Amino acid sequence: MNEENMKPINSSDNALNDGLMNDSDIVKDSIEKDSVDITQLRTPIKVDLSPIYNFLGARTTQAWVDAAINNLPLIIQDHANCEKKAAGTAMNLIFRYEFSYDLQCKLAQLIREEMLHYEQVLGIMNDRGLEWKYLSAGRYAKGMLKHKRTYEPAAMVDVLIIGAFIEARSCERFASLAEVINDERLAKYYRYLLKSESRHFEDYLALAQSLSEDNIDERVSFFKEVESELISSPDAELRFHSGTPA
Ligand SMILES: [Fe+2]
Ligand SMILES: [Fe+2]
Repeated sequence: MNEENMKPINSSDNALNDGLMNDSDIVKDSIEKDSVDITQLRTPIKVDLSPIYNFLGARTTQAWVDAAINNLPLIIQDHANCEKKAAGTAMNLIFRYEFSYDLQCKLAQLIREEMLHYEQVLGIMNDRGLEWKYLSAGRYAKGMLKHKRTYEPAAMVDVLIIGAFIEARSCERFASLAEVINDERLAKYYRYLLKSESRHFEDYLALAQSLSEDNIDERVSFFKEVESELISSPDAELRFHSGTPA
């Protein structure tokens, strides 16, 4: 993650200016932040997930967590797909909505981070001897996108709100898996992802509000219900964002 690197060099909270870090610390710090090797990552001590839990209308069920733990290779494969799709969706938005400087900057950073996550998950698959398998997309994203309004700027606002829900749900699922998974390396990696995914959620939501002329609360409430239903209702397919196992 390069969040800190985006700050101006004279930022008052920059540890370099405060003389708190020496050169070797700085090199080590940047390796830890950007490493594809997940053993080099520093997991944030605590990420406040309460905004995520307040935003989402339903929590992941124990049945989904149990199914995911019992089908980890499939979940890891689908996670890899999700990271790639997250980057691809953001890239489409960057091409479509070139007028917004804020959107360009926020999503350019998000794409870098999602592609780093993609490389990291590929590394996890490789370490575990998992071969790439084709997995069809689940119903989740489609189930929200079918409600997207078809005229601008409403279509853009809806896609950004949907993006916020996907990021928030990813974060919630990583947290619920990290709590119970019997694999310390994977649990640590999922905890590491919480920081960037919760920021992605906030960025999408802030973009949706700042680029909309109207208050977005009503659309957020609408998608909150749609998303909760997709997560809580029975789902025949197990995926990273699937509903309760049928
Ligand atoms: Fe990601
Ligand atoms: Fe993300």
